[in-house]
Amino acid sequence: MSTTSLVDRAISVLRLNDTGVFTKPGPHQYPHQWNWDSALVALGLSHFDLPRAQLEIRSLLSGQWRDGMLPSVVYHSVPSDYFPNPEFWQIESSPNAPGVPTTGITQPPLLATVVRLIHDRHPMPDFIQEVLPAMLHWHRWLHTARDADGRGLACILHPWESGTDDSPRWRHLLAAIQPEAVPEFQRGDTKHVPALERPHRAEYERFIYLIDVFRKLGYSHRELLAHSPFLVQDILFNSILFRADEDLRALAVGLGQPTAEIDGWLSRVLSNFDARFWDEGLGLYFDYDLRSGSPIRVNTASTFLPLFAGLPSKKQAQRLVQEHLLDPNEYAFSGDVRHWVTTTARLEPTWEPRRYWRGPVWIIMNWFIIEGLRRYGFDDVAEAIQQDTLGLIEASGFREYYDVRDGSGCGSVDFSWSAALLLELLKSPSH
Ligand code: GLC
Repeated sequence: MSTTSLVDRAISVLRLNDTGVFTKPGPHQYPHQWNWDSALVALGLSHFDLPRAQLEIRSLLSGQWRDGMLPSVVYHSVPSDYFPNPEFWQIESSPNAPGVPTTGITQPPLLATVVRLIHDRHPMPDFIQEVLPAMLHWHRWLHTARDADGRGLACILHPWESGTDDSPRWRHLLAAIQPEAVPEFQRGDTKHVPALERPHRAEYERFIYLIDVFRKLGYSHRELLAHSPFLVQDILFNSILFRADEDLRALAVGLGQPTAEIDGWLSRVLSNFDARFWDEGLGLYFDYDLRSGSPIRVNTASTFLPLFAGLPSKKQAQRLVQEHLLDPNEYAFSGDVRHWVTTTARLEPTWEPRRYWRGPVWIIMNWFIIEGLRRYGFDDVAEAIQQDTLGLIEASGFREYYDVRDGSGCGSVDFSWSAALLLELLKSPSH
């Protein structure tokens, strides 16, 4: 298929999921506004409709909590059968809740990076002036309300905050949680997608149990840090935050605003990132479980995210690529794995080629990795992954994720960020 028709198809997916105010991640499975999805949607929209991209961001920010948190989902009072629904979150138990229905947790802070990317290509100083305070407020919240041990690294309280909801990194942690009672609930996700491609029941029950814990604690930061059974410093989340802090800084400099506070955030992360996450023996980054005080030694594609943020040294980057990304037992093609990049290393016992974050290719992860590789000069590997990504979309459409064996599509159809990132990938230097 020609590049032009792929671009046309990507634009129609974004138009199809456009409600006029926000863009749904997918037409059936995800009927509301998701945080990092919308950031990427705005990036995609900026290639052909800048005012609509700005509206997407304004709509997302309309769900911001009074304390600065930007929630993972803004429901926008659109009726749906999505579970968990707004009533389930009971956010009114918090004095910080906004006047619109949202979840009570956040998602990876990709927004400032996207806003800077758009602004660098299409300068929009008035818009930056308008949205910078809200983004700063969110980052300040991440660096305070979510700084559990004073190291400047943000923690997450729920696997859904990681964006990689069902990653096997969370498996042992979730299994160790023994809910006294799980509230009654009816899953919505398996109505639209086969159960084989969605999380296992035991994990799903814990996802719900955690929400119950948070709502009973009235979403108070102090209480949550003290009592959440799940408390993790995640490499993907912190890499995205570091890059977004740098982008926020550049935007502030552009407006002639002071940067001392942001500089403080950046330097604390720089001093603590490696000590907390890098395993020199294995040449991998691992997340950190604050409850047990130990690294989570599961090898997933999140280990490549620091490349996206420019955090590794050249030597660390070399090890990540040579010893892991190109290793056929882990990420490179081998046997029945025919596509790049599997979300969980092949050698992990939890690897599953079709289930959600357990193995399939996700376009978002490929984009992070391609960007990171280019940043470090691994242009050939980046190009190979880019070509494979475009081939997957061409053959199977804009799906939520893809089976790493035959590239068949899984999860939601007409998935917004797959379309948005196709537009972004085709803008990259090699095209
Ligand atoms: C899934 C993904 C999450 C995404 C959401 C909406 O829950 O794990 O990252 O934001 O879908 O697309």
